[in-house]
Amino acid sequence: MPMPSLPVPGSPGAARVQHIAYDEGVHKIARLAALLAYALMVATVVFGVLLRTRFAQRHIRRQTLYGAHMVLALTAVVFSLVHGLTFIYQPVWRIALVNLVVPFVGGVQKVPVGFGVLGLELALAVGVSVWAQRRLGYRRWLRLHQGAYVAFLLVWLHIITVNPEPRTLSLVGMGVAAGAGACFLLFTLRLLPADRLTPAEGDA
Ligand code: HEM
Repeated sequence: MPMPSLPVPGSPGAARVQHIAYDEGVHKIARLAALLAYALMVATVVFGVLLRTRFAQRHIRRQTLYGAHMVLALTAVVFSLVHGLTFIYQPVWRIALVNLVVPFVGGVQKVPVGFGVLGLELALAVGVSVWAQRRLGYRRWLRLHQGAYVAFLLVWLHIITVNPEPRTLSLVGMGVAAGAGACFLLFTLRLLPADRLTPAEGDA
């Protein structure tokens, strides 16, 4: 007789087995905020690369691109924070405030969840570093800002390890793959020599 498969830790099935209440409303908020945060994070990377490479500069003013990049980054962080905080209200995940600050410690699925916490913290550090740009000098700041690619990689690892759905050929799975594919393509483009990517003279 085939063995019944165990429910995914943190899922409604796991909550049922452990006799823990599972809040569908909280789950929907967590999911909506997560998908919005991910889409906004992808858009932030796209606008960041457009800003840096000046591909779109002939059609869109640099200030407009800069503004869009900042607004997208900020809203991505806000939705990520909402997403992370919702798990405090979903007891089956055993996530407390400390687990949202210190990655890979306690809670259910601590490594997959830890990727999300660390990714968000790195994204926050990259965002806040904008205010230290003058003090650090442009080149040094840019190296730090490129940590955004690492933050994205951590978030992607989080998404594909914490929940089986993004690994399937579902709408969510294909959306997550398309976003990651676009960011990976842009990242490899950025590895090309700068003069192949910057038609205009001078640097920001
Ligand atoms: C404080 C940091 C974070 C924590 C504690 C956290 C926690 C979780 C947990 C527990 C799940 C599984 C939900 C479930 O299966 O019911 C999940 C899924 C997910 N997370 Fe996060 N996460 C964090 C950061 C992020 C960030 C920064 C993003 C994107 C920008 C993100 C995007 C996602 C996505 C897309 C899913 C899959 C949603 C679904 O298909 O239902 N997470 N997260």
